[in-house]
Amino acid sequence: MLKLPPRYDEPLPAAFFPASTPLPFSRADFGANFYWGASAAAYQTEGAWQHQGKGPSIWDDFTRRKGVIRRNEHGRVATDFYNRYEEDLDLARGLGLTDFRFSVAWPRVLPEGIGAVNRRGLDYYDRLVDACLERDLRPMLTLYHWDLPSALQARGGWTNRNIVGWFSEYAQIMARRLGDRVPHWAVINEPMVFVGAGHLLGVHAPGRRHLGAFLSAAHHATLAQAEGGRALRALLPDTAQIGTTFSCSYLTPFRPGNSYDQAATRRADALLNRFFVEPTLGLGYPVAELPALRWLLDRYQKSGDEQRMKFNFDFWGVQNYTREMVRFSPWLPLQWASLVPAKQRGVPYTDMGWEVFPESLYHMLKQFGAYPNAPQLIVTESGSAFPDERQGKRVADPARRAFLQAAIGQVLRAKREGVDVGGYFSWSLTDNFEWAEGYGPRFGLIHIDYETQQRTVKDSGRWYKSFLKGETLEATEANPAQQAVNR
Ligand code: FCB
Repeated sequence: MLKLPPRYDEPLPAAFFPASTPLPFSRADFGANFYWGASAAAYQTEGAWQHQGKGPSIWDDFTRRKGVIRRNEHGRVATDFYNRYEEDLDLARGLGLTDFRFSVAWPRVLPEGIGAVNRRGLDYYDRLVDACLERDLRPMLTLYHWDLPSALQARGGWTNRNIVGWFSEYAQIMARRLGDRVPHWAVINEPMVFVGAGHLLGVHAPGRRHLGAFLSAAHHATLAQAEGGRALRALLPDTAQIGTTFSCSYLTPFRPGNSYDQAATRRADALLNRFFVEPTLGLGYPVAELPALRWLLDRYQKSGDEQRMKFNFDFWGVQNYTREMVRFSPWLPLQWASLVPAKQRGVPYTDMGWEVFPESLYHMLKQFGAYPNAPQLIVTESGSAFPDERQGKRVADPARRAFLQAAIGQVLRAKREGVDVGGYFSWSLTDNFEWAEGYGPRFGLIHIDYETQQRTVKDSGRWYKSFLKGETLEATEANPAQQAVNR
């Protein structure tokens, strides 16, 4: 764990504030129409897991297994957002955000995944959207942020090709009900993470470890991503901006001059950064770099699928937290590459074990922006977890604050170099349930006391607020990190 400076005014390691940060900058540099938001997800915040007709999800089931989640924690109460959303949206508005991204729990709306709609569940999202609009917060709605209805998992979940139709039905229900008020739709959150962590590594729901399950789930997610986009566009042809979100990390070879590591980096890039992006553009899967994908093509891809995987999204959500260093590995035949953890590299890292490397966001915006026909990019997640301590009404979180400042600076850097990037959403509005890591890592701009559910805006949140009010982040003197922290 990164040892935090013991005193508030001590400098952070220089990694927090790369020299490439285009200081000074202010909100005005991003243009008047730039979206400034924060993101959240249903299972991580809502709680109310059996409330008002909600059906069970694979995360309700997975968290019941012993030993898979830190301290066996779960999202049954979480941040109680289901009951406290008005308070949280008040706080979001208080920060001066223009946008708020949340996800819909599919089993809250369709307890069996398909078929009968749970009116009370749908009504809840209706109220949530209205509550955003009343506060001048533009809602961005994510249809799938990993909480698949258990009833669909019982039929194979993402490994069953029928999921494409099930998902499209669900998308249509949401579009019909909320399409008149929700301007931004994100079809799927980070397919590589729920497919990979859930079906190959077994560390996320549904907890499978099987290459065939991974490849079939991946292919069906690729199809659902495009099909969901088409379902929304058919119903909301003029009103909605339709996007989807991708996890990504800037990758470099662990041993820069080593040709094995260089080749491994290209393969890891194909798997982690290109796999779900390129089919949307009609480029298919990156089979040249990952020959093992031929198995996917032979077994799961049907004729016409290349066409079905295409969809011209209005935006891509870029979700970036760190960079990774890659080395050749003889043990992993899908990509023959493994990631060298930051801890072993002697660099500063966050509570997730992720290297503090804000420039990764710049590199990924450049990489995605370089595709011919790339749509607008919106940073739909960016953030950092550090241990926080509340002292009375204050949470001093200099590390998160510096990271936020540096990440926003890197967005500006990409924008100035011509990348069409339209918004920045911080992960997350509040601390919340961090999947396999439980309530350990805290990502919020707002601190949650899980005993009392008390909310406290952290210093990072306060800085975001003053930045959104127009304050300039000044150029620095000798130590930019220290300067950023002292302000
Ligand atoms: C992303 C997820 C999000 C959150 C952050 C830290 O992969 O989309 O739900 O857990 O990581």
